[in-house]
Amino acid sequence: MEYLVMLPGPTNVPERVTRAMFTPTINHRSKDFVKLYTDVIEKTQKVFQTSHDIVALTASGTGAVEASVVNLIKKGDKVIIPVNGEFSSRLATMLEWQGANVIRLTTPFGENATFDQVKEAFDNNKDVKAFYVVYNETSTGTQVRYLDKISKLTSRNDSYFVVDAVSILGGEELPVDKWGIDVCIAAGQKAMAAPPGISPISISPKAKKYMIANPPPTFYFNLARYFKYYDDTKETPFTPALPLLYAFREALDIILEEGMEARIKRHRVCSDAFYSGLSAMGLSPFAKQDARSTVVIALNYLQGLEDKTFRSTLSEKFRVLVAGGFGELKGKVFRVGCMGEVHKYHVMRTISAISSTLDMMGYKTNPEALKVAEEKLKAL
Ligand SMILES: Cc1ncc(COP(=O)(O)O)c(C=O)c1O
Repeated sequence: MEYLVMLPGPTNVPERVTRAMFTPTINHRSKDFVKLYTDVIEKTQKVFQTSHDIVALTASGTGAVEASVVNLIKKGDKVIIPVNGEFSSRLATMLEWQGANVIRLTTPFGENATFDQVKEAFDNNKDVKAFYVVYNETSTGTQVRYLDKISKLTSRNDSYFVVDAVSILGGEELPVDKWGIDVCIAAGQKAMAAPPGISPISISPKAKKYMIANPPPTFYFNLARYFKYYDDTKETPFTPALPLLYAFREALDIILEEGMEARIKRHRVCSDAFYSGLSAMGLSPFAKQDARSTVVIALNYLQGLEDKTFRSTLSEKFRVLVAGGFGELKGKVFRVGCMGEVHKYHVMRTISAISSTLDMMGYKTNPEALKVAEEKLKAL
């Protein structure tokens, strides 16, 4: 029996998308490929709500995040970045490895730096070159809610606005052009419900110009090469992962058929049902209320509840997959992905399986939890 993949990536992949991977191989230097790749780029632009260039990298999200760093940042550049979990820490480290002078706005896990703290950092660092931010900190289940205001700060000194939207694009609001985002990074295997391996990245004309004029000493992730190939022939510089591109195109079609507005509402309603139902059951969300993510639900383990036994029981007895904690949260929290295909069925089956697992492990749970979630799901 198939698993219900409630991980914060990879997530459940619709059958239509999986089938698309069986499309026979084509020549990646041909009209067939130009049709496939331009389709992917144009549909991705619609989902990102941007007219900017898109590069669909054959890599997981980390590859696209690294590309955003090596193509934009040089030794000594000043960069501001809020740090509140594993992925923002990793990004700050990558920036440091690149030689940047990194100003970390560190807050406790489960909380976000406030907009005022970000503004203060801009006020104190007029020579900042870029603001990097992880929109949805997957390791702690937190989400930043002021990205619409950041371009007011970056436009003051013409600095770059870079968003790691790996775990959220396709599930929440993210109008790239309206919010003035220069570089936006996503990954197929999360809220876009595609298989892992394609990570699209959007690049504004200003950032593109800079990257072409200042190419990094790298080969595979040198974005200037991708711009040249796309502008000249609508191809990629290196052999693309063809089956994954077919699947990604199908996943984009599904997103566009549903429409972003309906999709965002579905993610919000399902996350509300998760938070409410699981709280009623006796579990407490890890993130502070105002920082809670609508695509990743992180929950504190109950006293004595052992991570490995809990998750292996969920997986083996109920075929439901959830993730453990990362780094210093290992063994302290578990995380439920509320992404991509997530709908009533996924929420109810996951809550029910968690409840049964807790019962089997000797914890008393509130049978009302399912009713509470069901009530919230009526909004769909
Ligand atoms: C916010 C964020 N950034 C980057 C990554 C890295 O992505 P990948 O595991 O696809 O390389 C992840 C993965 O979960 C993520 O959640």
